[in-house]
Amino acid sequence: MSKDPTPQPHTMRAWTFSCRGLPKDVLKLDYTHPVPPPPTKGDLLIRVSYVGLNPGCVINMSFIPPFLRRFLSGNPTAIPEGEFAGVVHLAGPSAPPNFSPGTRVFGNIPMMRLIAGLGTLAEYIIMPSSGVAVVPASMSLVEASGLSGAGQTAMDMFLPIRVKEGHRVLVNGSSGGVGIMAVQIAKAKGAYVVATCSEASFELVKSLGVDEVVDYRANVPLHAHLADKYGGKNSFDFILDTIGTQDLFTYSPSYLKPEGQLINVDTSHLRRSSPRLPDDQRGTNGGEGCEFSTNGGGRNA
Ligand SMILES: NC(=O)c1ccc[n+]([C@@H]2O[C@H](COP(=O)([O-])OP(=O)(O)OC[C@H]3O[C@@H](n4cnc5c(N)ncnc54)[C@H](OP(=O)(O)O)[C@@H]3O)[C@@H](O)[C@H]2O)c1
Repeated sequence: MSKDPTPQPHTMRAWTFSCRGLPKDVLKLDYTHPVPPPPTKGDLLIRVSYVGLNPGCVINMSFIPPFLRRFLSGNPTAIPEGEFAGVVHLAGPSAPPNFSPGTRVFGNIPMMRLIAGLGTLAEYIIMPSSGVAVVPASMSLVEASGLSGAGQTAMDMFLPIRVKEGHRVLVNGSSGGVGIMAVQIAKAKGAYVVATCSEASFELVKSLGVDEVVDYRANVPLHAHLADKYGGKNSFDFILDTIGTQDLFTYSPSYLKPEGQLINVDTSHLRRSSPRLPDDQRGTNGGEGCEFSTNGGGRNA
């Protein structure tokens, strides 16, 4: 096992919960949570710097019954969230050499660990080295912390399609965590990108290089506006929907080429059946000692 670069504390701060509910109702800041034991095999003990807060976590906290967590982890107390960026503190004996202590890494914990309540909203976590990547030198840890969930979802949208230079792509919901990544990938592939968002997000979305923005709130119904403006020779080759607007799909023959494809990654049907996190609880200060923001990261002070 690699030598411990700095003394390892026995306890750490961690946000924990032990019953189902919304984060604001059930989360507690535990100052004396046990630090995970030193890593074995190819695992890494990582000091967490930032955590990307993900809407999927609310579903997890609201749905998974405590007895299932007790069964999986042997512990009724759970730590939420899965995305993170941080620094390798200790590397297990068979961890690859590029993950030596001090290396800046980011990733997303495996789903079963998330369900078991072994989440990332804590100072230290154990991760299999196969589940992390080195943060590029040009990227800050805060930027990397929101990349593994929303970024990977955006990347996945492009797996079944072949976007090429000159293709016309519509990104529905371009100002969200997934949307801002999707428009950048589409632009990097040379596509002509039309993006929907509200007027308040125009500046942000335009700064990503999109060619046209459409205010979905001002153009109602959206499908009629799209049919007017993007029918016939202006039709799209691909529609990437991060919102799951049913009418966008239903009326798509009016603005999507006959051989075009529509990709939808919306999972809000899951959120609709779980308690709603009020807007004023999203992306705000997570509590004493930590700052958190949706898809932007939270920093352990
Ligand atoms: N984040 C992930 O890791 C992840 C993973 C898998 C699946 N998903 C799913 O992907 C979807 C998007 O997630 P997200 O994290 O990107 O959400 P998000 O960061 O909360 O962004 C949602 C965005 O949607 C925009 N919006 C709301 N209603 C709209 C409408 N009718 N038309 C166009 N835009 C609209 C809002 O833009 P304005 O502020 O401009 O109005 C907002 O910026 C969700 O269904 C989520 O469950 C997300």
